[in-house]
Amino acid sequence: MKKYYITTPLYYVNYKPHIGHAYTTLAADILKRHLKAEGRDVFFQTGTDEHGINIERTAREHSKTPKQWSDEIVVEFKDMWKTLHIDYDYFIRTTDEYHEKQVQLVFEKLIKSGDIYKGNYEGIYCSSCENFYDESELVDGKCPIHKKEVERVNEETYFFKLSAYQDRLLNHYKENPEFLSPSYRANEIIRFVEMGLKDISVSRTRVKWGISVLSDPNHTVYVWFDALLNYITGAGYDVHNPDNEKFKSLWPCDVHLIGKEIFRFHAVIWPAMLMALGLPLPKKVYAHGWWTVNGEKMSKSRGNIINPVDVVREYGLDTFRYFIFREVPFGQDGDFSTDMLKTKYNSDLANGLGNLFSRTVNMVRKYMDNIMPDKPKDSEIFSKITLMQKDIYKNIEEMQFSSALDLIWKAVSILNKEIDDKKPWEMAKKDIEGLKKFLNEMVWCLRLIARWIYPFMPDTSAKMNMYLAIGNTADKTVESQKLAPLFPKKN
Ligand code: MSP
Repeated sequence: MKKYYITTPLYYVNYKPHIGHAYTTLAADILKRHLKAEGRDVFFQTGTDEHGINIERTAREHSKTPKQWSDEIVVEFKDMWKTLHIDYDYFIRTTDEYHEKQVQLVFEKLIKSGDIYKGNYEGIYCSSCENFYDESELVDGKCPIHKKEVERVNEETYFFKLSAYQDRLLNHYKENPEFLSPSYRANEIIRFVEMGLKDISVSRTRVKWGISVLSDPNHTVYVWFDALLNYITGAGYDVHNPDNEKFKSLWPCDVHLIGKEIFRFHAVIWPAMLMALGLPLPKKVYAHGWWTVNGEKMSKSRGNIINPVDVVREYGLDTFRYFIFREVPFGQDGDFSTDMLKTKYNSDLANGLGNLFSRTVNMVRKYMDNIMPDKPKDSEIFSKITLMQKDIYKNIEEMQFSSALDLIWKAVSILNKEIDDKKPWEMAKKDIEGLKKFLNEMVWCLRLIARWIYPFMPDTSAKMNMYLAIGNTADKTVESQKLAPLFPKKN
């Protein structure tokens, strides 16, 4: 049985994890939790990218070997994923022995097939991007992404025959319009490939911190060529046994989630590498936008890097998980501000969901003696809310997380309005049977909401379910506990 396979990029170990890394990884977590809740078998892989000149330099600056340095930063990543309740299945490091071995074998296989050949490279390199540039791509003579000085390199190298795959790539984009998402980002890639592809350098002789080329150990494998292969090596790809069961149960990948700045690597180079290996292509590469902070790019020198742990400490994990997916459509750029976060916390969580939940549960306790009748049959409100589920699920599966949350919060406000309109506290005085029916409907609607928010806010969902299992809980203490607000209001 093929599992649903989701990946994040492998993060460089030259920084501690920040909100940008958390964003992609949380998106993968949300998708996984949703699919699992629907009974699908999912495999979610993340990890770290540890080779290359940049990490070699960072480690040296800290008087560490690259491996020592990587080992330390890897712990930071793993701790962060624990704090954010990221439910990944496999954490791959590009320094893992199995990965390194397979990268070497892939390289040899492609030398043999003629897809990799030896030559000389003269050109421009940005070590922060770990990317080669054409003179025409530079901005004021500097790297277009990092605005830093670039390096000139002139060395013997192995080239990958990217140019040979131009037509096949264009064909694939055309025949699989879902492959590159969102579509507004795909056009840029298609135009780039149409302009003509050049062969790319995939080995370095000057960089020592990398996987050495088996048949020519003076060369190390180019860090991107090495890192991209994680998507198959982590899934059990074996050059000598590509049809093994594990790999067949995972590949092709269902979605590579990435940031927009690395779309080209994933949309052009990676599919060409897979074509050269005779492997099917991933079903989708989804490039999301970038977070800035108060309008500025996050950077060490500006000192404006947002550490998710600080946000979680102040507002709770689920607030963070909610906020970064609610406001900004996944795909577009967003600006992070704590003022906005606080506003949304009070309006959507404390007043919206929190208020709906506590009003309902308190009335149930007061008027229903904690006993819930069965699922309502002829309830207008329950039918109306149930009908929204299909679109919510569709949005999550298409990575339209903000649209899914919009719909869920539309349901929350419909339900809050229902309470305001029906005035159950007045019903309590004259129509106790009507009141009980109404509260039963509300509980069942809230159970739906608890399921819908689960991928985004797993803790809140669990807490809601605990109280909404009214009358059915084995743990009777829950029913006697005072109900604390889900989201206490912040001043
Ligand atoms: N190591 C490469 C990826 C290799 S994948 C085979 C790399 N690493 S990275 O550490 O720079 O991480 C890049 C990824 O982190 C982005 O693609 C994105 O997923 C996430 N983000 C890093 N900063 C970000 C923002 N400011 N905003 C949103 N996401 C960003 O590139």
